[in-house]
Amino acid sequence: MKQVRAAIVGMGIGRPNAQGIAANPRGRVVALCDLVEDRMADFGRELPEPVKHYTDYKAMCRDPEIDAVFIGTPNQWHVPIALEAVKHDKHVLITKPLADSLPAAQKLVATAEASGVVNMMSLSTRFDAPCQYAGRRAREGYFGELYYARARSIRRSGIPAWNMGFIEAGGGAFRDMGVHVLDAAWWLLGTPEPLTATGVAGAKFGPRGLGYWDFQPVAKGISRQYASDDYAGGFIRFEGGAGLQVESFWASHQPEEFQIELFGTEAGARLFPLTFYRTENGAPADVTVRVPKPPDVWHAIAAHFIDCILDGVACQAPLRHGMLVQAMLEAVLRSAASGKEVRLGR
Ligand SMILES: NC(=O)c1ccc[n+]([C@@H]2O[C@H](COP(=O)([O-])OP(=O)(O)OC[C@H]3O[C@@H](n4cnc5c(N)ncnc54)[C@H](O)[C@@H]3O)[C@@H](O)[C@H]2O)c1
Repeated sequence: MKQVRAAIVGMGIGRPNAQGIAANPRGRVVALCDLVEDRMADFGRELPEPVKHYTDYKAMCRDPEIDAVFIGTPNQWHVPIALEAVKHDKHVLITKPLADSLPAAQKLVATAEASGVVNMMSLSTRFDAPCQYAGRRAREGYFGELYYARARSIRRSGIPAWNMGFIEAGGGAFRDMGVHVLDAAWWLLGTPEPLTATGVAGAKFGPRGLGYWDFQPVAKGISRQYASDDYAGGFIRFEGGAGLQVESFWASHQPEEFQIELFGTEAGARLFPLTFYRTENGAPADVTVRVPKPPDVWHAIAAHFIDCILDGVACQAPLRHGMLVQAMLEAVLRSAASGKEVRLGR
């Protein structure tokens, strides 16, 4: 195989992922799949070559001219579609979060790993240039021992309700945005084994018809169906003693913020803008790093996926990582529901 022939499921986040694959000399987008034909027709015009359209993912998965499938539907559909793709030996690239529940994530990881297909998470924060740069420095030992991290995504009025999957059970702020900062911070810490999680979560804005995207009013019917968290705050303890504080708010009376902070024995960091903090000659020395204009993050994700398929490169973001992040997410939410700390590992 010299080129990867990809199908894209879901015409929302599927679009930039498809653009990344289509822009790669070793990637082609050959098919689109969505429940809404117009969305495929609209996006198809932006692609460099004609594509097939499918409204039934099962029919798409039977197509022998497809090698790989990107899945960007609402959370509840990631696993059913991925299982079908893996059943037909397609490589899979899946948007975050991996699933709407931990058992679903576990089932998919077991099946995908047993099948031997390339199985990868599409993670736009982890693969973003500042995170990749900080990750390289962490692996080189620049920070010394990384023993603590803070990760947060705070919106003022940003509940997405353009598909109900976001606000139904299995959606929510923590699985939508908390997952980005949790995944990236955990990866920067070196993917330590999580031991325990504790947290609080709830919905303070959505059910009242408040806090929706850009302060837009929302139909009562939508807010009445609100069944997920719109905020969560948690703390995760890892093997080796490191701790991670993670917060995600779709709506709040606070300034907007998307941030990851690292605490190391030799240096610390903030990711946005990327800044390193050290002590030199007994004085604080802070360095702001302007990472050279990177390839677009979607191009970077697509390039890695294609390298894994065609060159057998070890995958930096396997679905197993998505499953462990899901385990942490769900443990924080379970702790919030039960009021007790949840044990994750040994
Ligand atoms: N930065 C990121 O990585 C990022 C950003 C946004 C969304 N997402 C993720 O992408 C997913 C979708 O979010 P979105 O904002 O793109 O939503 P969206 O509503 O814009 O797009 C989802 C599309 O999936 C289609 N769809 C739904 N069920 C389907 C099915 N069974 N088969 C085929 N198509 C189906 C819908 O018709 C819709 O066009 C979510 O899991 C979300 O967490 C990731």
